Amino acid sequence: MNILVINGPNLNLLGIREPDIYGNETLSDIENWLNQQPESNGHTIFWYQSNHEGDLIDRIHEAMGNSDGIIINPGAFTHYSYALRDAISSVNLPTVEVHLSDTEKREDFRKLSVITDVCIKRVAGFGKKSYLIGLQVLLDQKIIPKN
Ligand code: DQA
Repeated sequence: MNILVINGPNLNLLGIREPDIYGNETLSDIENWLNQQPESNGHTIFWYQSNHEGDLIDRIHEAMGNSDGIIINPGAFTHYSYALRDAISSVNLPTVEVHLSDTEKREDFRKLSVITDVCIKRVAGFGKKSYLIGLQVLLDQKIIPKN
């Protein structure tokens, strides 16, 4: 299976950015860790990060026809990007929304996700394990298109 892991704005600064909330590991550390998990065996996992909404949307579009599922941490776009939401619902690929932090327990503006209801699952608050749980969810779905 080909899985696309998409990371939105400021996630390139993991390891430096607010380590008390997001931990000390970089995005590459998390990518390497996920690749070493038994669940990753036999699957090709592509990672993509951008700080730009349009680039994230383009990458989601490019996943059509060559990815079997998407794991996405949209960063702050989670809370207000209808364009990202529409991109996810347009490509009709099973998508899991993941967050390192427990957004429900943080500032009020983080409690709203405009992404959740176009995803098959939302996983938040488990640090890097949120990505692993996201992968497990996709594998459990047997990568069946959601509609
Ligand atoms: C985040 C949570 C978002 O609210 C925030 O804007 C991020 C990271 C997380 O992984 O916990 O950039 O998506």
